[in-house]
Amino acid sequence: MKLLGRVAIVTGGAKGIGKCVCQLFAEEGAAVVVADLDVETGQMAADELAANGHKAAFVKVDVTKEESVKGLVKAAVDTFGKLDIMIANAGIAETIPIHNLSLETWNRTIDVNLTGVFLTNKYAIEQMLFQGYGVIVNTASMLGHIGRNEVTSYTASKGGVANLTRTLGVTYASKGIRVNAVCPGYIDTDLIRNKSPEAKEELIRLHPIGRLGQPEEIAKAILFLASDDSSFVCGANLMVDGGFTAQ
Ligand SMILES: NC(=O)c1ccc[n+]([C@@H]2O[C@H](COP(=O)([O-])OP(=O)(O)OC[C@H]3O[C@@H](n4cnc5c(N)ncnc54)[C@H](O)[C@@H]3O)[C@@H](O)[C@H]2O)c1
Repeated sequence: MKLLGRVAIVTGGAKGIGKCVCQLFAEEGAAVVVADLDVETGQMAADELAANGHKAAFVKVDVTKEESVKGLVKAAVDTFGKLDIMIANAGIAETIPIHNLSLETWNRTIDVNLTGVFLTNKYAIEQMLFQGYGVIVNTASMLGHIGRNEVTSYTASKGGVANLTRTLGVTYASKGIRVNAVCPGYIDTDLIRNKSPEAKEELIRLHPIGRLGQPEEIAKAILFLASDDSSFVCGANLMVDGGFTAQ
């Protein structure tokens, strides 16, 4: 088992990619804190893990709120004694051209996707500096590295996550804390399920591999970055996108 005895927080852990990460980390021996704004789904995810004999707890968090994120890290440490791994994964998406994009929608995307990563990284690193070790994986996106028609605030927020990750990777590498990001292509989760069949076909065509990704495939990449298998990797943005950005 790659994470035996480790304690991990996964934000956005109630469903999609985050839920798969919680499941995989638990199977690899970690105690998992499922952290999400969605209480009902998040609690169910944690209960499911516990019912299968894993160490798991649900903590409600709004990653845009400082006190809420502080409380999340404290709850993990109070419950499981330490914090080895933070997966900053909660996110929302939008596809609106800038001339139609309200300031409210822009602010909401930046708040959840970028400020949320700032806050979760900040308070995880505070705890990890105290311990002298830790690993952080941020869920950025391939759309933090390329432009995409009408995906305005989302691409801006993920570009911020990609570069914040580089800076934190550089800043804390010598202090025993590794910070990296995973950059998924289009993944078959609720985030993109409201797209029309035509739009989905178009997305599939854009991936050289000829299909969308599955959340389990992103979870495996996150496990690599969170485990000792990636002990010499820091400040990296790992593309897991079926070749989308390689073309
Ligand atoms: N699905 C994709 O195609 C894709 C591609 C690239 C990157 N990503 C990124 O992967 C991450 C997970 O996406 P997903 O596809 O699993 O989405 P999802 O919608 O299935 O899950 C997102 C989770 O985040 C939670 N969340 C939203 N706002 C929150 C907040 N303020 N505080 C706490 N939790 C909050 C939601 O309740 C939900 O459980 C996101 O950061 C997303 O941008 C997804």
